[in-house]
Amino acid sequence: MIVGVIGAGRVGAVLGAALGQAGHTVVAASGSSPASAARMARLLPDTPRRTPAEVARAATDLLLIAVPDDAIAPLVAGLTFRAGQVVAHTSGAQGLAVLEPAAAQGGRTLALHPAMTFAGTGDDLSRLPGTAFGVTAPPGLRPLATRLVADLGGTPSGSPRPTGRSTTRRSHMARTTWSRSSTRPPTGCATPGSYTRRASSAPAASRPRQRPSARRRGADRPGRPG
Ligand SMILES: NC(=O)c1ccc[n+]([C@@H]2O[C@H](COP(=O)([O-])OP(=O)(O)OC[C@H]3O[C@@H](n4cnc5c(N)ncnc54)[C@H](OP(=O)(O)O)[C@@H]3O)[C@@H](O)[C@H]2O)c1
Repeated sequence: MIVGVIGAGRVGAVLGAALGQAGHTVVAASGSSPASAARMARLLPDTPRRTPAEVARAATDLLLIAVPDDAIAPLVAGLTFRAGQVVAHTSGAQGLAVLEPAAAQGGRTLALHPAMTFAGTGDDLSRLPGTAFGVTAPPGLRPLATRLVADLGGTPSGSPRPTGRSTTRRSHMARTTWSRSSTRPPTGCATPGSYTRRASSAPAASRPRQRPSARRRGADRPGRPG
């Protein structure tokens, strides 16, 4: 697939690199900070750095949105999508409603939430195999979502509740309750509380992820292409 990554942060750069290793082509990624630039240099050395709007245009098959939870809605509201383009975010705190502007333009939306803590380094690539991914997808997209998770080395583990969106810690805890259709919640992916309780004893792949601080910026801010 032709893939674009908005947000070459800890998650986006690593998942982009994993998709590249699986044979997909990551044509563009965004991130204006020195940290994102450094991650791209290490993990996506052949991928040009572009603005989010340019990444959305270039990602003909799959647009992966890996920005802080609270930044997804304002970002998506300002982007133009392609009909048929798969648009995925990686948040465990948001459902598909936050991607509604993409769906309204013909995008096919899903959420792929890896239940592991990312450092944003190459070490994460070796920790992806076997990682549980919370998948939220309409029935028609589940086969593709399953394939993408497999390409990332992960295992799909049921679906977080598929509707609505949340921006608070309280509602995040409610939303990451797993639906009855899943056999059991993935390790380390129940509530922020359970992340914390497992932190000291769990293996690295199931330790709690660090919740990033959200920043609100526009889709067209300069990306300082590298
Ligand atoms: N970290 C984890 O362990 C983990 C695990 C599972 C899921 N997740 C989820 O994955 C998503 C990304 O988390 P992360 O930890 O990778 O975040 P991160 O390391 O803070 O990286 C965020 C990336 O998004 C960019 N960004 C920030 N605000 C933006 C905006 N308004 N518009 C466009 N780009 C913006 C940043 O670019 P700049 O270079 O300009 O700052 C950076 O490249 C979140 O939804 C998070 O909940 C995280």
